[in-house]
Amino acid sequence: MKGFFVTGTDTEIGKTWSSVALIHALRERGLRVNAIKPVAAGEDNPSDASLLAGACGHAIDPALLNPFAFREPVSPHLAAQLESRHVELQPIVEAARRLAGDADLLIAEGAGGWMVPLGGPDGELMMPDLVRALDLPVILVVGLKLGCLNHALLSAAQISASGCALAGWIGNTVDPAMRLQAENIETLTRLLPAPLLGILPRLEAPADGASRLDLSPLEGWGQVEGGGQVQGTE
Ligand SMILES: Nc1ncnc2c1ncn2[C@@H]1O[C@H](COP(=O)(O)OP(=O)(O)O)[C@@H](O)[C@H]1O
Ligand SMILES: [Mg+2]
Repeated sequence: MKGFFVTGTDTEIGKTWSSVALIHALRERGLRVNAIKPVAAGEDNPSDASLLAGACGHAIDPALLNPFAFREPVSPHLAAQLESRHVELQPIVEAARRLAGDADLLIAEGAGGWMVPLGGPDGELMMPDLVRALDLPVILVVGLKLGCLNHALLSAAQISASGCALAGWIGNTVDPAMRLQAENIETLTRLLPAPLLGILPRLEAPADGASRLDLSPLEGWGQVEGGGQVQGTE
């Protein structure tokens, strides 16, 4: 499957905004992009799924876009339990395959951080199991604030321990008053085992982040060819 799985150092640190920026940057290269939010719990309005679909610029079947949506804003395994439901891999993988088949690439947004329990019929399904099943390289969004070095390095180590590939990382300005932000970014650039794709400042709208991203490090994955026709907005 062609595409990327977007994870983050925590919940509410900019996975959706970074994904929207990434989708716009990919479309500016002339690529047709589909998105999927495999598991959502207690979504705001607008939901992550609708923001991602809006960025793609064409209608996406809601059943494929967001296979599992739970009402309560808690960990997916608990949110599912509250509704006596289970997250299952097969419908997600099927939805992702169909969406990826209908586009140049697929952007999948996780939920929370990397090590998120999904529950499932046997109780022990974890988000990394899903990423392995999707067989997508990972983009890590680092919420830039005090403590992010630890969160970022732990996440990167665990992504690799999960048998997944880290394709790149995006720094998102969560705390505009963060002290020594540039030095922290330099430290992350040195210590993270994947290239920096860009730093997003505080933005008016997530699409404005597209111009901050350099997608050339992703070309190595053979998924992002440069120099295509710019795709018109529908
Ligand atoms: N770069 C940014 N500039 C301005 N606001 C941001 C930025 N990144 C995130 N936000 C705000 O933080 C909220 C959480 O970001 P979001 O991308 O939804 O996080 P996540 O998907 O990781 O839960 C957004 O709804 C938005 O209001
Ligand atoms: Mg989100």
